[in-house]
Amino acid sequence: MKKNVFRDSVTASPWQTIGKPEVGTATNLTEIFDTVIIGAGITGITTALMLQQAGQKCIVLEAGNVGYGTTGGTTAHLNTFFDTTYPQIESDFSKEAAKLVAQTGKDAIAIIKGYIDRYQADCDFEYKDGYLYSENERETKELKEILESSAEAGVEVEEASENGVKVPFESVIRFGNQAQFHPMKYLSTLVKAFTDMGGIVLENAFVTDRKSKDGLSEVITDKAQIKGRNVVYATHLPPGITAFSLRCAPYRSYVIGARLKNEQYPHGLTYDMQEPYHYFRTHEIEGQKYLIVGGEDHKTGHDNPEEAFANLESYLRQYYEVESIDYRWSSQYYVPVDGLPYIGPMAAADEQVYIATGFNGNGMIFGTISGKIISDQILGIENPYSQLYSPSRLKPIAGFSEFVKENADVAWRFVADRFGTEELKAVADLKPGEGKVVEFDGDRLAVYKDAGGKVTALSPVCTHAGCIVNFNAAEQSWDCPCHGGRFDTSGKVLCGPPQKDLEQIALPQK
Ligand code: FES
Repeated sequence: MKKNVFRDSVTASPWQTIGKPEVGTATNLTEIFDTVIIGAGITGITTALMLQQAGQKCIVLEAGNVGYGTTGGTTAHLNTFFDTTYPQIESDFSKEAAKLVAQTGKDAIAIIKGYIDRYQADCDFEYKDGYLYSENERETKELKEILESSAEAGVEVEEASENGVKVPFESVIRFGNQAQFHPMKYLSTLVKAFTDMGGIVLENAFVTDRKSKDGLSEVITDKAQIKGRNVVYATHLPPGITAFSLRCAPYRSYVIGARLKNEQYPHGLTYDMQEPYHYFRTHEIEGQKYLIVGGEDHKTGHDNPEEAFANLESYLRQYYEVESIDYRWSSQYYVPVDGLPYIGPMAAADEQVYIATGFNGNGMIFGTISGKIISDQILGIENPYSQLYSPSRLKPIAGFSEFVKENADVAWRFVADRFGTEELKAVADLKPGEGKVVEFDGDRLAVYKDAGGKVTALSPVCTHAGCIVNFNAAEQSWDCPCHGGRFDTSGKVLCGPPQKDLEQIALPQK
């Protein structure tokens, strides 16, 4: 695993300007912990803090540093409406489920606001209006249904006359009491509260295995072996090939932070209804306002990330006069097969291993509520969301078509990548900063040429389940199209379910 970097990407998000949160020195690693949490993003840290507050002794193991994964690259929208819409939830689950999901958003925002007040966190939290707008007849029809279902689910929503951005619209609805914040300032506050209470955060500890015996788990990292009664995987997908490898599809979202020539920054949180959708908000970083616009999402390892950034920039410039683009970054999220996240015991038979995944593009809300759900479950407290988000739920009908589509994709990769043929490419053809999977002396290799002309060759076979990685030029990483495993140019795991680096190959000397 790559050491001492701030995010799992080479691109920088604006949240990184505050530096890495302090975690102190980890000691007493040999004791038996009540709960071992893997992953120091909003899910892991919220869970750890809630358990530590309840009197547990917890340790958070993080492969990189606090906020290394998606929390360091989120756009930090806090909503009571979600990527899976209320009409979808009503039809695939029930009206009651839609009400619970609506309550999830309200509860998560209340938890965040509660911690901000309790710890006097200066994290730029602001309540905002959220605008969802349509641009054609089909979208307007859908928007009307969303308005009705959202209101019925108990969300504050109404028709509106403006969408908060300069994009023309046909119809718009306004959601009240949405919010935004600085995710890394918030996370730093939670980390401080956790470590002040004796909680331990061990950074640069890449988990390679877990063994369980007599009700105890032993979590193996490249730094230490940690024993605990409960284990929480706050890592998107849990490691290994599990049901969740198939139930969640990895996506990347692209974001630009731009300074405008005028002061026409959006005042709310705004979303269109395109596929994939675009989203807008404003944030002030070190005294400078930025319009933050995101979108152009695609499945990890499938499309061209540089093209996604270019499309996003030209979309932005259609509507705004841009002074400069100071930030470009992308981040990963997982789309659940039936539309709702999986939060709770990983298997009904094993109540000591927990997961939280499939948050779609709503990670700050579902990450926060995961902390509440999982900590309640570990502490034996009944939680109203346990059943709805149970990882063991059976909802084959709800997401069946998408489920088949995602799996077909995985199956195709296995066959075509292993046995297909590609045009021969000589290593010498590579430009600096470019990577390609090439056929070389009869073997397929992932080769990369750095800025100085040094070539690195790796096995392109993902160490998770054997799919072939693709090069991501924008992030200078090898991305796996199957379950979102990502590796840096030296083959080190950046994120996702792989637990081993890509094999390094010595190129023959010519
Ligand atoms: Fe599963 Fe690569 S992440 S095969």
